[in-house]
Amino acid sequence: MAASEKTLTINNRATSEGWTVVLPRRSRQRRKATKSGVLEEKQEPWTPTDSLIDPSKESTLVQKMERCINKIDKSEFYHTFRDQIQTSVADYFNRVLGSEIKMQMVIYGIGSIELYEPPRLQLSLAILLKRDFSWIGNIEVFDPILSATESRVLETLGCSVMSINEFGRREALKPTMFFMPHCEAELYNNLLQANWKLNLLKNMVLFGNSFETYEQHVSLCKNSPILNSMGHILAARGFTNEFRIQTVSDDYYNAFHDSSWHLFSPALETELQFINS
Ligand SMILES: C[S@@+](CC[C@H](N)C(=O)[O-])C[C@H]1O[C@@H](n2cnc3c(N)ncnc32)[C@H](O)[C@@H]1O
Repeated sequence: MAASEKTLTINNRATSEGWTVVLPRRSRQRRKATKSGVLEEKQEPWTPTDSLIDPSKESTLVQKMERCINKIDKSEFYHTFRDQIQTSVADYFNRVLGSEIKMQMVIYGIGSIELYEPPRLQLSLAILLKRDFSWIGNIEVFDPILSATESRVLETLGCSVMSINEFGRREALKPTMFFMPHCEAELYNNLLQANWKLNLLKNMVLFGNSFETYEQHVSLCKNSPILNSMGHILAARGFTNEFRIQTVSDDYYNAFHDSSWHLFSPALETELQFINS
């Protein structure tokens, strides 16, 4: 995808005006399509459907990941990204940490690190963050399309793979960074809905698609069913502090365009209006 083409993943529809709503690569990630519905409500146990263990595939993927981590580590993109955390966003992160020493990281919707570069770059970024910021705790990862090989490589890289599909509904009972690059709107919405309380929202940091851009483009999807699953995203805008990240070069555009840090600071219960979706 050319860097000039503005994109954002919110639905399976393409709109006009140079802003394309990206297809979420369903056709390419169909191998476990039956397990990948975002809208389902109940948590369910999950295991990769292909249980095949292939050591040579695994070591090839570990090497691929190591090259990717090195590439991003040396990049101007990563230096800018890290600087932003240490400067403009730092106070907000500290507020979420409060008196806790660690902020756990939950990665939802990483995609296939075996098949595509954007998921590899996104995972590399998360791994570098944990390496460079001592206050980042354990990393848990879940995507229903992960293969057995990918799950084992994730463990080799120091992450835990969840055995439950939470459908994005983890409650932030302690400081938690939700790392959800380019996920579908429903997954962000599920997460907000599950945490729609003052004492939970204050524990959350969310990295993902820009909520501001969702709001700006809502008018383009006036009759779309997607609006039914964006209620919490739109309602949260009133108390969201959003910090856009810079992709800096085309190398990082596909993996990180239109991404932001989001922190939530509703002051009063009354700001948390009742929302159906
Ligand atoms: C639009 S893709 C983005 C993939 C990757 N982050 C990227 O930018 O290429 C959204 C991802 O969310 C995953 N997903 C769907 N339901 C999920 C769930 N309940 N929990 C976690 N991830 C889920 C899909 O399998 C898919 O890989």
